[in-house]
Amino acid sequence: MQILVVGGTGFVGTALVRELCARDHAVTVLSRTAEAEPSDDVRAVDGDVTDYESIEGAFAGQDAVVNLVALSPLFTPPGGNEMHERVHLDGTRHVVEAAAAHGVDKLVQMSALGADPEGPTAYLRAKGNAERVVRASTLDWVLVRPSVVFGDGGEFVDFTKLLTTPYVTGLPGGGRTCFQPLWVGDLAPMLADAVEDDAHVGGVYELGGPEVLTLADVTKLVYRADGRAVRVLPVPMALAKVGLTLGALLPGFPMGSDQYRSLRLDNTVDENDVRALGREPSDLRTLDSYLTGD
Ligand SMILES: NC(=O)c1ccc[n+]([C@@H]2O[C@H](COP(=O)([O-])OP(=O)(O)OC[C@H]3O[C@@H](n4cnc5c(N)ncnc54)[C@H](OP(=O)(O)O)[C@@H]3O)[C@@H](O)[C@H]2O)c1
Repeated sequence: MQILVVGGTGFVGTALVRELCARDHAVTVLSRTAEAEPSDDVRAVDGDVTDYESIEGAFAGQDAVVNLVALSPLFTPPGGNEMHERVHLDGTRHVVEAAAAHGVDKLVQMSALGADPEGPTAYLRAKGNAERVVRASTLDWVLVRPSVVFGDGGEFVDFTKLLTTPYVTGLPGGGRTCFQPLWVGDLAPMLADAVEDDAHVGGVYELGGPEVLTLADVTKLVYRADGRAVRVLPVPMALAKVGLTLGALLPGFPMGSDQYRSLRLDNTVDENDVRALGREPSDLRTLDSYLTGD
């Protein structure tokens, strides 16, 4: 197949492109800096999803498109939270429009757990509205909503270290918020299957890893892999809110009240739809195995 991966130079995109190339697909990647990373195996096109004209030409001749464009929810984007709407919502509109204009039938759209037009953060609202755009389209779409993804090049482990300190650390509410971390090396083949197999058209897949971990669990695993212990002390939620809300007023401070809200939201699946993609949760890689290199 001819497959266009929009946002294909990022963390998930790099793993997916590797997988698609290994399956002998002809891959084109598009991002604002794609051409700066030349590769023999893939065609690279520079484009910005907020600018329709800059992306439209890349859709010609494609059989499928995967939309992986992202602004991280872990930090306030340069340009402010309204950038989530421009990049995730307007960007998705442009992807859908360009796909329809060029007869590209299939779209795999990366969304996120908790995506909801009425959601508590700008990221989740933009992702939820983008899902609506995809569902309303005439394309053969698949929606994928993963929990947090870890692996080489990902920001989950680094973010945990940024939020905490070794030996003794405070975490909002004692770090009880739950995650279901999924390894990028497990996610990429599932995404490739979603692209290839028409049985997944119309699927909305909520994907989690093999175990539910609290933020405190994750913190302990991350430092243990570095040979350091950590004791987690609870920081009252109200205090964390004040800290992040005040911090948001400082120029250049990368976190704000949306990050505080995210820290309170569990990020786990009810039914793990990895089964619909032919995997058993128990076969997936754990965070501990990744961190310790087992
Ligand atoms: N990583 C996770 O834990 C996680 C969890 C749940 C859902 N997701 C979703 O999974 C998808 C991939 O995430 P990721 O972690 O791989 O993100 P990432 O590493 O930040 O990659 C984002 C990609 O989007 C491109 N991009 C950003 N703004 C763009 C724009 N305006 N126009 C064109 N390209 C643009 C980036 O390249 P340039 O900057 O060069 O343009 C990059 O290729 C996203 O939809 C994300 O919301 C990720």
